[in-house]
Amino acid sequence: MADRITLGVLVSGRGTNLQAIIDACEQGTIDAKVAVVISDKADAYALERARKHGIAAVHVPVGKYGTPAYERADAEQLRILKEHGVQLVCMAGYMRKLGPRVLDAYPGAVMNIHPALLPSFPGAHGQPDALAYGVKISGCTVHFADAEFDQGPIIIQAAVPVVEGDDADTLAARILQQEHKIYLQAIQWFAEGRLRIEGRHVRVLDAEQPPAGQAIISPPLQIEERWP
Ligand code: GRF
Repeated sequence: MADRITLGVLVSGRGTNLQAIIDACEQGTIDAKVAVVISDKADAYALERARKHGIAAVHVPVGKYGTPAYERADAEQLRILKEHGVQLVCMAGYMRKLGPRVLDAYPGAVMNIHPALLPSFPGAHGQPDALAYGVKISGCTVHFADAEFDQGPIIIQAAVPVVEGDDADTLAARILQQEHKIYLQAIQWFAEGRLRIEGRHVRVLDAEQPPAGQAIISPPLQIEERWP
């Protein structure tokens, strides 16, 4: 058991990842508690989810990147995060770049989740972009965040097959199920002090290794394997 770390979650929308995090905290699946949820959108349903659990929910409007309004929002976000004793900042469907104040105050302590296997398909449309490209496997990524969209060192990824007849919604739903799992794992590793950032690489101390021969093949093979 690690000490419970204090999370601040940044959101813009419906907040299913936030909900998974809150539930895992309440059930003791992860050694964390959500102290505050900050949204750039006043009507984000994620704020409602936070309030239902007695968690501080704050709307901080954010202007255009690089404008004074954006800088004010950066300072305000940092003030709120510090006021709530936040140790790890989790972006969960937060559709903005973080400002330099928050990033500088939380080196190696800001995470993001993205619904594609980065570095493929960064940006706001990961699932439809992957589908349109014709990939057979997609997935999701939790990574440490930096000043760019979807670029920091990768902590954990999950791969899912694209299946015949998928549209962006069915693929997104399949990916989302995995998002809710891998985000919790990344937070728990952080809480246990097991993540080391080495350049672009994140080492998980004492991590179990996946079986080296394991693969997701999509569509599945229909030839017999013949070994010499
Ligand atoms: C998720 O797919 C996340 O990966 C992406 O935005 C979506 C947010 O969903 N960044 P939710 O608000 O957590 O339900």
